[in-house]
Amino acid sequence: MLDYTRKACDVNRFHAFSSIDSPKIPAYHTHTMKKHQIYLDNAATTPMDPKVLEAMLPYFTEKYGNPEALHTKGKESLIAIDNARETVAKILNCRAREIIFCGTATEANNLAIFGTARANKDKGTHLITTKIEHSSVRRPFEQLEKEGFDVTYLDVDNEGFVNPDDIKKALTPKTTLVSVMYANNEIGTIEPIKKIGKILHDHQAYFHTDACQIPGAETLDTKTLKIDMMTLNGSKIYGPKGIGVLYVNKETKIEPIIFGSAHEYSLRAGTHNTPLIVGFAKALELITKSDNKKITKLRDKLLTALLKKIPRAHLNGPTNHRLPNNINITIPGIHAQEILLHLDEAGIYVSTGAACNMGNEKPSKTLEAIGLPQKEILSSLRITLGKNTTEEDIDYVIKTFPTP
Ligand SMILES: Cc1ncc(COP(=O)(O)O)c(C=O)c1O
Repeated sequence: MLDYTRKACDVNRFHAFSSIDSPKIPAYHTHTMKKHQIYLDNAATTPMDPKVLEAMLPYFTEKYGNPEALHTKGKESLIAIDNARETVAKILNCRAREIIFCGTATEANNLAIFGTARANKDKGTHLITTKIEHSSVRRPFEQLEKEGFDVTYLDVDNEGFVNPDDIKKALTPKTTLVSVMYANNEIGTIEPIKKIGKILHDHQAYFHTDACQIPGAETLDTKTLKIDMMTLNGSKIYGPKGIGVLYVNKETKIEPIIFGSAHEYSLRAGTHNTPLIVGFAKALELITKSDNKKITKLRDKLLTALLKKIPRAHLNGPTNHRLPNNINITIPGIHAQEILLHLDEAGIYVSTGAACNMGNEKPSKTLEAIGLPQKEILSSLRITLGKNTTEEDIDYVIKTFPTP
């Protein structure tokens, strides 16, 4: 039952920071119109590019036919979906037939993991993943353990890197699936996917990567990477929310997790969401042509300034092979949610190392896996820039960021 007795709080009282042991964090805080609005939570979701919206709009109101229908109205939608599939396939260097449009990236990850583990049970029940995966990967593996599968959760080093040799060692003749994320959503570590692809090439195990955070930063060429399945997400690429894509190599033995009509080559039943599919393809096209130099420069300027302003703070994750927009810092002794709310009051939006409400914190598995003590996890802040971030935004953040 929801607790309606808690009151919205006056955020002004957080201007004086409390200690990590007795944080002053409100259950709810007031939402007022801010003078500045600086969005630095692009790893959580991105604003939609106006060009994407423009591409989508006709498919809501004018070209609304069901693509399965035989009439002209249906054909309009079918052609749009076919074109979107071709666009995505070209970027992934695969066949259009290998692109499966799903409801979300969570669903795409579930399809990849449940779909191949269950379909290949006769070949083995050993699966491999890492300790830093998004919950939409980790939780399906935990569920498969309950179904009798044996899962190896690989450690990462203190910068979040998986060692490809650990994968080699963990493989058995009964391994049927290996899932390693392309880039970590919290600390920005870019994993050695190409090296892992090479290792797995001659093994029966399918190789899946959750690539939600990577578009624009590294190649999505499925042939170069030697991967069998790849998850992508509209919400992280300035596209619409509520659409995910799973690339599935045509040789992959996989079964559906949603049953119904024969949509998406019988792998994902449900009427196509034409506007979202069109929007996804447009967003992917735009992001893969983008240039990260500006974001990287602004990110480095902010990071340098923050570490200078707060000398006891430290960066989590690597300096090389890191997502260009990601900063994750720990400010020991300070509860990160207090800083988050202080910044929020100033119109700056960031996130913390714990998915939480006060008193109900679930410390980040990634920060745990890189060896951060619990207290430091609660003192960790994630700041993720986007393509709309400006130099003025960064100057304002540097000026506003509290020196606790
Ligand atoms: C790495 C990664 N995988 C999967 C997801 C799940 O995306 P969605 O919630 O849109 O299904 C996210 C979203 O935070 C993510 O960052």
